[in-house]
Amino acid sequence: MPGRNPYRPGVGLTPVYLAGRSDELRRFRSMLRSAPEIPANVRVTGLRGVGKTVLLGEYEMIAAEEGWVTEMLELEHRHDTAEVMVDTVSALCERLRRQISRSARIRRKVGKAVEQVAKLEIGFDDVRLSFDPSADDDDIALAETIYATVATAVGHGKLGVILMFDEAQVLEDPASLSVLVAAVSTLQRSAVPVCLVVCGLPSLAARLLRARTYTERMFRGENVGSLDGEAARQALIRPLDGTGVTIADDLVDAVMRRIGGYPYFVQLWGAELWDAADQADVQHLSRDLLAVVEPDITRRLDTDFYEPRVRLLTPAEQDVLIATGTCPYPPIVVADVIAASPKSTGNINVLMGRIAAAGVLYRVRRGEYDYTAPGFHTFLQRRATR
Ligand SMILES: Nc1ncnc2c1ncn2[C@@H]1O[C@H](COP(=O)(O)OP(=O)(O)O)[C@@H](O)[C@H]1O
Ligand SMILES: [Mg+2]
Repeated sequence: MPGRNPYRPGVGLTPVYLAGRSDELRRFRSMLRSAPEIPANVRVTGLRGVGKTVLLGEYEMIAAEEGWVTEMLELEHRHDTAEVMVDTVSALCERLRRQISRSARIRRKVGKAVEQVAKLEIGFDDVRLSFDPSADDDDIALAETIYATVATAVGHGKLGVILMFDEAQVLEDPASLSVLVAAVSTLQRSAVPVCLVVCGLPSLAARLLRARTYTERMFRGENVGSLDGEAARQALIRPLDGTGVTIADDLVDAVMRRIGGYPYFVQLWGAELWDAADQADVQHLSRDLLAVVEPDITRRLDTDFYEPRVRLLTPAEQDVLIATGTCPYPPIVVADVIAASPKSTGNINVLMGRIAAAGVLYRVRRGEYDYTAPGFHTFLQRRATR
């Protein structure tokens, strides 16, 4: 077999061929071109493994092409208080400011022309006036730090600053999101070129709404989902370009029937098929190979993708999660879980909430949940028969 495995199953790994996201990327670019007059805030939501983090990486590249500076942070549960968010975002901005100044110094040192120096038209004193009187000092302090970073960026010839937050569904306390949203939206009202991209599981949409009622209009929502038929096929086929390895049409069909267009699954199936061909020393991926690798794929999916999520949970939470596997689906109706489990109603409600907080389920609406990873229900059924 020539070369290395061209598939990229994993977390946030940029695929060799990015399939089916051209509309999202075009929309992002055109938003940036209308900013700051029209604030370019994006909320990216979707299940695990659909390619949200990869999309943020693409946003970063487009932003750089368009002359914006970006900073990305993956949020964790420890960030979930207003104070920690203020400290974290301030530190992020400080770091960004130092970076911008440093790269300008380096450019000067090596004799490169320094970019056209511009200046923000609005001073922070004007921004301060547009805060509503009830705003607390934290909100204002954070806005001031962000403002200073944007001013540095603009002073070095950049168009503005984009702050990106991945895994933002971990911010459960409305105050943690509020402080960020309030600071950014106030700056945007004064046409300060700063943008906010928040990304996470589907529950993030509701979280944002609880944080500030006006966030509904503040963000453009991008729901990232599975790839449609042709895009999913291309995601499997195109990484083989230039490798000298070919793939049979009927194998592509067979894989498509199994993966439901989920990007992570495309990469996993592709990687395993490639490995099998490598071992068999053949240069053609055929249906025969699929029959050989299918049990391995299922095993790898279970151990790498699903099982770690179960092990995140306490034994009592695991019991409830396993009970959801025996209920009709989709969605998971809490009343069914109560009927299927010996635990009390109150206990189940609490445990479902905790499983959601751990990011394994998300609440669709009152009394209804869904899994955050595609194929989880089938996995639980498979697991029960082991
Ligand atoms: N548009 C795409 N085309 C092909 N593969 C993709 C695409 N987007 C993501 N992937 C692959 O899917 C997997 C999951 O991507 P990731 O961004 O980590 O998902 P998420 O952040 O939604 O959990 C990775 O293996 C990545 O290479
Ligand atoms: Mg991700």
